[in-house]
Amino acid sequence: MKMGEWPTDVGIVALELFFPSQYVEQNELEAYDKVSAGKYTVGLGQARMGFCTDREDINSLCLTVVTRLMERYSISYSSIGRLEVGTETILDKSKSVKTVLMQLFENSGNTDIEGVDTINACYGGTAALFNSVSWVESSAWDGRFALVVAADIAVYAKGNARPTGGAGAIAMLVGANAPLVLDRGVRATHMRHVYDFYKPDLVSEYPKVDGQLSIQCYLSALDKCYQLFCSKSEKHGKERFGLKDLDAVLFHVPYCKLVQKSLARLMLNDFLRASEEGRSRHYPGLEALKDVKLEDTYFDRDIEKAFITLSKSAFEEKTQPSLLVANQVGNMYTPSLYGGLVSLLISRGADELAGKRIALFSYGSGLASSMFSLHVSLDTNPGSPLKHLVANLTHIKSQLELRHKISPEEFDSIMEIREHNHHKAPYTPQASLDILFPGTWYLDSVDEMHRRSYKRVPHHGLSS
Ligand code: ACO
Repeated sequence: MKMGEWPTDVGIVALELFFPSQYVEQNELEAYDKVSAGKYTVGLGQARMGFCTDREDINSLCLTVVTRLMERYSISYSSIGRLEVGTETILDKSKSVKTVLMQLFENSGNTDIEGVDTINACYGGTAALFNSVSWVESSAWDGRFALVVAADIAVYAKGNARPTGGAGAIAMLVGANAPLVLDRGVRATHMRHVYDFYKPDLVSEYPKVDGQLSIQCYLSALDKCYQLFCSKSEKHGKERFGLKDLDAVLFHVPYCKLVQKSLARLMLNDFLRASEEGRSRHYPGLEALKDVKLEDTYFDRDIEKAFITLSKSAFEEKTQPSLLVANQVGNMYTPSLYGGLVSLLISRGADELAGKRIALFSYGSGLASSMFSLHVSLDTNPGSPLKHLVANLTHIKSQLELRHKISPEEFDSIMEIREHNHHKAPYTPQASLDILFPGTWYLDSVDEMHRRSYKRVPHHGLSS
């Protein structure tokens, strides 16, 4: 594209996902935690949880995911003009993760890269994506790509929130003529002041969390964003816009069960927005619920059950394919929603997704939330950007299987090591390097001035 030309079809050009090389089985964790069998696996819908030893921190996760993206796509470090990081894993109150990533650009000589870090719980990655898309569409754009990195280590104190942890990183290359294009004019946002989940203790990795309130806030933000998203979509010519107009619906995934409830909730919204005639045609037997108020239904078992049953096939078609990584890795916080996008792409494939519309709901406690949509390019010729993007994600499934299973006892002691040494300086990490994936960046040491240095595990090509 020539300088001065207005970019079209701005969106996601390339995607790279990274998750830790070790996990704990949720059913083993149930027994270890002495909770009833099925609580984490069925009740929360989680199979495995990825976690990091003291060898990985937020900087190393981001170094790894960026390096892998650049290598897999053979992208030159000089072709990046903006780099934004979304995270809530804070190691430094001043120095951004973005500046740590600048060491990767040193050999290229490229220091002309805008953007720093964005923070608000699990929403920072979405803010970084919106900023990057805006940059490409703005007068400041210089023709280069933007790179969005979202990464977190989600760890909770011992107790009922611990099984909803996870860890991971995503890198998204943003540019023009993209295979996944952000739709214009429909983005819907809902932000409020609330203490549902927050991290006021800067020496601890753990959040303060009011579990029930966080679920209520998530569901009410979903209602608000969806209503606004539908009414903005209706302004663009769709009458009675609803779930039927979306081919896939992706959510931030604290745990998979909440996402199934969320899809059901969108159907409840559609039901309440429907005409009398539409209600009796599409929701037989539920007319008695037509006057319920959304704010009275967050924990209403009967309504939840009715709409989970009614939305079963919609869930299987539009949402379940996006839960592969979340079920296996857990809540990655900022990358969680985009891990859903990766899961959808590898579950459905380029030919099936071409021309489809995907809605995404991003939620960060505190709270910041948005719903937006992507449309998938129609070009599925061999070598098309869409085919290329999907082909470059085929290793994800086998990489999930290549991980090492760690017992709950060992997981617990690794969490304790993290807890005791978080922010310690000087510090030399204790965990072995043996089980890290090839090409992983790891924390080598922290000196007495809290300066962190990183090294990389040798890599033998990029098949995984
Ligand atoms: N078999 C099957 N299901 C079971 C079993 C069993 N043996 N035991 C319990 N369950 C079900 C429960 O009925 C419940 O289902 P429901 O959600 O439909 O009510 C589910 O498993 C979870 O059990 P609870 O007793 O509700 O779980 P608890 O309150 O102990 O913890 C919570 C769950 C609140 C999600 C906790 O893990 C937490 O605080 N997590 C972090 C906060 C969070 O993720 N919030 C979501 C949005 S904000 C964010 O993204 C961080």
